[in-house]
Amino acid sequence: MDILFFSAQPYDITYFNQANQQNTHRFRFLEYPLNEDNTALIKDEKAVCVFVNDKVDAAVVHKLKEKGITLIALRCAGFNNVDLKAAAEAGISVVRVPAYSPHAVAEHAVTLLLALNRKIYKSYNRVRDNNFTLAGLEGFDVYGKTVGVIGTGNIGAVFCRIMLGFGCKVLAHDVVEDASLVQAGVTYVSQESVLTESDIISLHCPLTPDTKHLINGHSINSMKRGVTLINTSRGGLVDTKAVVEALKNGHIGALGIDVYEQEEQLFFQNLSGIIIQDDVLSRLTTFPNVLVTAHQGFFTREALTQIAETTLANISSFEKNEPLKNALK
Ligand code: NAI
Repeated sequence: MDILFFSAQPYDITYFNQANQQNTHRFRFLEYPLNEDNTALIKDEKAVCVFVNDKVDAAVVHKLKEKGITLIALRCAGFNNVDLKAAAEAGISVVRVPAYSPHAVAEHAVTLLLALNRKIYKSYNRVRDNNFTLAGLEGFDVYGKTVGVIGTGNIGAVFCRIMLGFGCKVLAHDVVEDASLVQAGVTYVSQESVLTESDIISLHCPLTPDTKHLINGHSINSMKRGVTLINTSRGGLVDTKAVVEALKNGHIGALGIDVYEQEEQLFFQNLSGIIIQDDVLSRLTTFPNVLVTAHQGFFTREALTQIAETTLANISSFEKNEPLKNALK
């Protein structure tokens, strides 16, 4: 099938070409994001392949239909950026990669937690400057702490098991409970209890109307003072302005995020020579107890290989009129 890739990065080209060694499909890679204007770049392709920050709203879906697109292939798990109802009405199928190395993202969440707690970003710079002092680098034992997890699907489950391995008490909330996690030692409680009883909170649920801003001024006030908050899921789960206030008054003790509410204007681009207009992100990056990474949780060799292979398998199934096991409706 002829596929037009939007928001393509060099690593997408490498891994998709690697997964297409039989030349089953033909690719055109664009570094531009998909939006209403960029649909004009579609030539003869019947499928578009998009990533997390390509906005596939009703207006874009309408234009895709006009261009003859029959398949939107997401090369990611989250799909909050796609208007599925509009796609269904337009007769366009949507597929995604539901699971690709959940370890990649779970391990990144743990990386943020440990790096923040032990101030690795500070010690790295200090030692390179021949400053071998320790003042200000004090952390806490993760062992024995209560870790709260919201969303125990593929990624949240791996995160829970890693934290159990650290000797933590793990509290979790999900709309569906995972019996194997309970057996492993996780205790399911209400979302409120996760928020109020945890020393460390990590978010692993999708962004939906129900979960938007689940971390807000009110829920932050219910948390333990000094809580560490980790978000590798979607930026919209967190009301970032409320979090900035809580960092200023010390209610949140540390924040590690791999996703940000307004990331589509920023992430995956080199803006180092440009004045950033986003005052909230700029404020966040001034805190000594905040670590921001630019949506790199998925970025391991294993995950990239699996993303490319599953995306192409989804497209092949669509082309052969087979049932689409990774379809979104
Ligand atoms: P998943 O679909 O396997 O798990 C999500 C879990 O959240 C499910 O168990 C679901 O029941 C639960 N859930 C749904 N609504 C909930 C609610 N209101 N309260 C509590 N739990 C709720 O998804 P997976 O693969 O674990 O991914 C989780 C999220 O991680 C994705 O939605 C995506 O946004 C994000 N992600 C981030 C990446 C990164 O690079 N930072 C890469 C991949 C995914």
